Amino acid sequence: MQIIRDLEALAGEVFALRASQGENRGDRVALVPTMGALHAGHMALITEAKRRADRVVATIFVNPLQFGADEDLDRYPRHEAADAEMLRQAGCDLLWMPSVGDIYPEGFATTVSVRGLSERWEGEARPGHFDGVATVVARLLLAVKPDVALFGEKDFQQLAVIRRMADDLGLGIEIVGVPTVRDEDGLALSSRNAYLSADQRKRAVALPQALAAARDAILSGEPVDAALAGAKEAIRAAGFSSIDYVALVDAGTLEPLEEPRGAMRLIAAATIGGTRLIDNIAVATGQSPRASSPR
Ligand code: PAF
Repeated sequence: MQIIRDLEALAGEVFALRASQGENRGDRVALVPTMGALHAGHMALITEAKRRADRVVATIFVNPLQFGADEDLDRYPRHEAADAEMLRQAGCDLLWMPSVGDIYPEGFATTVSVRGLSERWEGEARPGHFDGVATVVARLLLAVKPDVALFGEKDFQQLAVIRRMADDLGLGIEIVGVPTVRDEDGLALSSRNAYLSADQRKRAVALPQALAAARDAILSGEPVDAALAGAKEAIRAAGFSSIDYVALVDAGTLEPLEEPRGAMRLIAAATIGGTRLIDNIAVATGQSPRASSPR
């Protein structure tokens, strides 16, 4: 696996990758953008990328633009050497670790903002977050120019924002969502799980459990507001100090639903011991209660 930091080297390296399978210069390139502190969820992105393309490029860039002033930019976990080794073992071909100056050179004055989809849920709790995400992802996609780019469904709203952005800007890059990878007890893998104490980690599983119980209740015909109230009660009872939202939403528009309809998602964000966790699960009509993870 080739590792580069320099933006100037990138275009040549990607060109070489496309050509590296011999005379065929049409090799498909996949991009997996990350902020590092990699775990099995990121490795699932690489595995899916390898299925969909001939060559895989990953980026590690802790994007300052998507962190609020009171958020964890300074303490965000950074494990460059271990990350690079995981990517190498997973079969990634090129790792690009740009500097802040390469991504946002002096005078950089452009913001990519996706109206509507960015404004609810995470957008309300973290103002400006999705502008930061859309701007950096546009920047990375335009620099690497992959055929396909992969993002985890764990950040379901982020995935929807990126799809909209790529579509609206006519980037011609396929955006693929990859299912959330969970620990054995059902907690979604996240780089921020590292902030949890052993006791908080045990309690944190209440979040996916509450979502699964709400899904089962909704599929069994319980009114949506009662199912959501039950989920919030269970999350609070487990020791979460605050809940930003627990909602049933349309899986495409992320608009809240008062009654089950079409493709739906249950989404939640709550804080335990100072660590804010988000999660979501699909709710499919025709899906029988208790049929699928998380437990
Ligand atoms: O999901 C992430 O890790 C980040 O938000 C992303 C997409 C790499 C943009 O910085």
